[in-house]
Amino acid sequence: MLKVSVPATSANLGSGFDCIGVALNLYNDFYFFSDNEQGVPSEAVLLEKRSLAHQGMNLVAEVLKKDTPNLKIAVRASVPSSRGLGSSATLAVAGLVAANVLLKGKLDEEKIISLATEIEGHPDNAAPALVGGMVISVTSFNEIKYIKIRPQNNLRIIVAVPDFQLSTVAARNILPKQVSREDAVFNTGRFGMFMTSILTGDYRYLNIAMEDALHQPYRMSLIPGFKEVITAAYSKGALGSCLSGAGPTVLAFCKDNEENIRKSMVEAWSSFGISAVTHVLDISSKGTLYKFENYIS
Ligand code: HSE
Repeated sequence: MLKVSVPATSANLGSGFDCIGVALNLYNDFYFFSDNEQGVPSEAVLLEKRSLAHQGMNLVAEVLKKDTPNLKIAVRASVPSSRGLGSSATLAVAGLVAANVLLKGKLDEEKIISLATEIEGHPDNAAPALVGGMVISVTSFNEIKYIKIRPQNNLRIIVAVPDFQLSTVAARNILPKQVSREDAVFNTGRFGMFMTSILTGDYRYLNIAMEDALHQPYRMSLIPGFKEVITAAYSKGALGSCLSGAGPTVLAFCKDNEENIRKSMVEAWSSFGISAVTHVLDISSKGTLYKFENYIS
């Protein structure tokens, strides 16, 4: 049996819409197994044959011109789904990595991220899910190019996950097709400042660097309490705060005061009648890991 563990990811980080994501130490564990194999944990749930993990396996098999391994896939999920924490990217990446390993594919990371982007539509979750760390990725001549960054100091990440789902499709459909030059410049400057802050460890303006004019203002209408949760995080000392991916989860970076920040975010949501759970996380520097367990060839 092949076990593939893929981390949750948070994309956009405010001003980096569709270009950046960070891997978090919260994992979905996938088990690829045949009927005669034992050892899948009882809490793992079997995936349907049309799942993104199956699509990932099929895509790699197609690229390698081989047959898709005839295996079942089960997941032990810790990453909440449809909350803006990259759960769908975990599925796609797991399927791609598993097929590459099982079919001895030797596809490199850039190729796997490109294939994940074919499934997902954007690389910002898949790239850090695969390679870990904070990853900036762009499409150039139909290929994904990425750079992995290891942020300085010990930035911690709080995610406040409300008890409602938001489909990425709905959260993308609400965005305008065109933006003004003013809004483009607003984000360009802030994203430059975000990267500079992360790379230098100078977080004085991280709150400004994580402001956004391209997606958050439109998505706010789908997320009651969004602004108030961010304000609450800042009131207790968060360094920066934003929507996680397409939402509805809200993320806050901090170096200390985790407990106060976490509580204030939950309370802000509670004042809108929404309950939320929080996770205080670290950046996962390794990304996707796999190993054979009780393997019968
Ligand atoms: N960058 C994407 C978005 C992430 O904001 O729509 C969705 O997972």
